[in-house]
Amino acid sequence: MKKLRVGIIGMGVGEQHIAGFQNHPACEVAALCDFSAQKREMVRSKYPDMSVYENDEAILANPDIDIVSVASYDNYHYSQTAAAIRNNKHVFVEKPLCLYAKEARRIRSLLRERPDLKLSSNLILRKSERFIRLKKMIDEGRLGCLYCVEGDYNYGRLQKITEGWRGRIDFYSVVYGGAVHIVDLLLWLTGSRVVEVSAYGNNISTRDSQFKYFDTVVSILRFENDITGKVTSNYSCVCPHFHNLAIYGTKGTFVNGRETAKLFCSRDPQAGFEKIDAPYPGVHKGDLIYSFVDSIVNGSGADVTIEDIFKVMSVCFAIEKACQKGGAAEVEYI
Ligand SMILES: NC(=O)c1ccc[n+]([C@@H]2O[C@H](COP(=O)([O-])OP(=O)(O)OC[C@H]3O[C@@H](n4cnc5c(N)ncnc54)[C@H](O)[C@@H]3O)[C@@H](O)[C@H]2O)c1
Repeated sequence: MKKLRVGIIGMGVGEQHIAGFQNHPACEVAALCDFSAQKREMVRSKYPDMSVYENDEAILANPDIDIVSVASYDNYHYSQTAAAIRNNKHVFVEKPLCLYAKEARRIRSLLRERPDLKLSSNLILRKSERFIRLKKMIDEGRLGCLYCVEGDYNYGRLQKITEGWRGRIDFYSVVYGGAVHIVDLLLWLTGSRVVEVSAYGNNISTRDSQFKYFDTVVSILRFENDITGKVTSNYSCVCPHFHNLAIYGTKGTFVNGRETAKLFCSRDPQAGFEKIDAPYPGVHKGDLIYSFVDSIVNGSGADVTIEDIFKVMSVCFAIEKACQKGGAAEVEYI
């Protein structure tokens, strides 16, 4: 059978997508694109069998490309995803899918016109073995009934917003760039929907820098089955990158830690806890790609489905809206 031919735009994290696609026997990476000459030179020498382009059109309008992987700056995700779909290509897009609800609605309607096309997004924390173990424990009932779920996206790389492209593009959201991973994790772990959010943000740490948006956003989530949630996107934290996660159920509490996580099953201080030492984060950035390609080849479900992407983006749009106005916002599902 003819292999699916893949083109990847953006050679930062996008370079790590190469191995993800190469893992699947049904596809081959045919083309790479980056508007930086230095990056093009780097990938030309590392991957001599692949075509290397400066302009994204060479991939988006190329009739020989079946799958486009979008790993460009956030502000290009919408136009590149929409163009790829219009040109009948499947899309794997880095998070965030796009920057505005109206763009997400447009992508949704383009996909409705082409139901044969697949879309997935790199919400990679779902592939962390530790969180997979947690999901299994929740599904087995070990935590009882979940009632409160909290997570912090501690970025730990402040210079990326004060010096890099994230501070130079027209709009950057730490909710779409960071909290999106935690929101996805909480939706996946609870299997529930968020109805309403409230949120506040500040830029105390970066107000004298090129970065003009909130660098820290705290949000409270109300789920449809009464679970309460809290998500923080903290880009200014003075600590290394980390995902705090605390999942509270009527029978147990899971708390993530850098070395191991802990599962408490008693309120008795003497009872101790179970160590959950499955690797964290323990993921390769291309780990979601295999199931995405499988979904194209076999019609099976990708680990991150189209529904998942629009759900998580809808919640993130509500959080951004709430913190812009300082208060609450209903989640409008796209
Ligand atoms: N899922 C994850 O865990 C994860 C991790 C890191 C980055 N990301 C996402 O990946 C995207 C890229 O981030 P990064 O950290 O790799 O940035 P980066 O600066 O390291 O690399 C981006 C590369 O893409 C190129 N590029 C950007 N826009 C382009 C365009 N329109 N056409 C051609 N080339 C283009 C740049 O020249 C650069 O070489 C962002 O959307 C980011 O949110 C996701």
